[in-house]
Amino acid sequence: MSGFSFTLDATCGKARTGRISTPRGEIRTPAFMPVGTAGTVKAMLPDSVAATGADILLGNTYHLMLRPGAERVARLGGLHAFMNWDRPILTDSGGFQVMSLSDLRKLTEDGVTFKSHIDGSRHMFSPEKSMEIQKLLGSDIVMAFDECPALPAPRDRIEASMRLSMRWAQRSRDAFGDRPGHALFGIQQGGLEPDLRAESAKALKAIGFDGYAVGGLAVGEGQEAMFACLDTACDMLPEDRPRYLMGVGKPDDIVGAVARGIDMMDCVLPSRSGRTGQAWTRRGQVNLRNARHADDPRPLDEACTCPACRSYSRAYLHHVVRSGEMIAGMLLTWHNLHYYQELMAGIRAAVAAGTFAGFEAGFHAARAEGDI
Ligand code: GUN
Ligand code: ZN
Repeated sequence: MSGFSFTLDATCGKARTGRISTPRGEIRTPAFMPVGTAGTVKAMLPDSVAATGADILLGNTYHLMLRPGAERVARLGGLHAFMNWDRPILTDSGGFQVMSLSDLRKLTEDGVTFKSHIDGSRHMFSPEKSMEIQKLLGSDIVMAFDECPALPAPRDRIEASMRLSMRWAQRSRDAFGDRPGHALFGIQQGGLEPDLRAESAKALKAIGFDGYAVGGLAVGEGQEAMFACLDTACDMLPEDRPRYLMGVGKPDDIVGAVARGIDMMDCVLPSRSGRTGQAWTRRGQVNLRNARHADDPRPLDEACTCPACRSYSRAYLHHVVRSGEMIAGMLLTWHNLHYYQELMAGIRAAVAAGTFAGFEAGFHAARAEGDI
């Protein structure tokens, strides 16, 4: 694992700030990873994504193996060259996406067979196959192959699924081998059951990973239950490795997760909601479709320095959203990713300064005021 390291710079309560060093550059933590599922952060050029402050993107093994195919990406120089993003990329392993997207899934000890949601073709995923695909893509941070049920689920289902994922975690580790400069992260499962989370963490630590993800959350349990789980789950993971909360979340989920010891997150929310006219600001969520913006000459957020806020009125954004113009998705995605990265920068600065509690209070107070 030489060429990949994590340095913790400061803590404030349970919140942490640090840096992950990789041969493709440094990732400042807590980090938010924009989602580039199919080799693009939709509606954004890679340089623009970098300009928002993102150090790392997330890509999806499931989507890229189905289209355009991992071998093809490898022949074309790997995912970084293919999509013109030279900074770090983390790829999710595929199991989670198979469960949520594909048709006719069949789960066995060996792996999962499924039909593509694109053309119905049959495919198989296993820990070994997932490691091979993530290597072909050239991913910097590879995720172990796992599986998790939607919540609520019966305890015995959560337990069996977690134990299978831990056996798959060992197979992922064995198949990954030793790849200097590339990291392999394990994924903790166990639903909302503290003892299953503890068993999972113990199994992962015994195998040994470069980082540890908290998986199986943000699957319908609600923020209160997720936070209660994180209250204990983070403490079960090694202090000297990055902790990644998968698939989270809204801005208040992010602040609460960092307060509980999380270092990395990813979510489609800022990019996806930007394409439906939703903006996220210091003062909460703003729906630009709403008629109240039609004559408003003010920017979306006068304090934001993104192109949407610097050069356009709410009236214009409302118009292009209502007209279904492509620039609407472009501008709002840019604004949302910019807001998320500003939030992360504010979090990092506050943790470094030892003022995270005050930052958190200010964050909630601004949202309580509501949109202008
Ligand atoms: N994305 C969100 N949650 C999960 C999870 O539990 N596992 C994986 N692999 N990806 C996720
Ligand atoms: Zn903006």
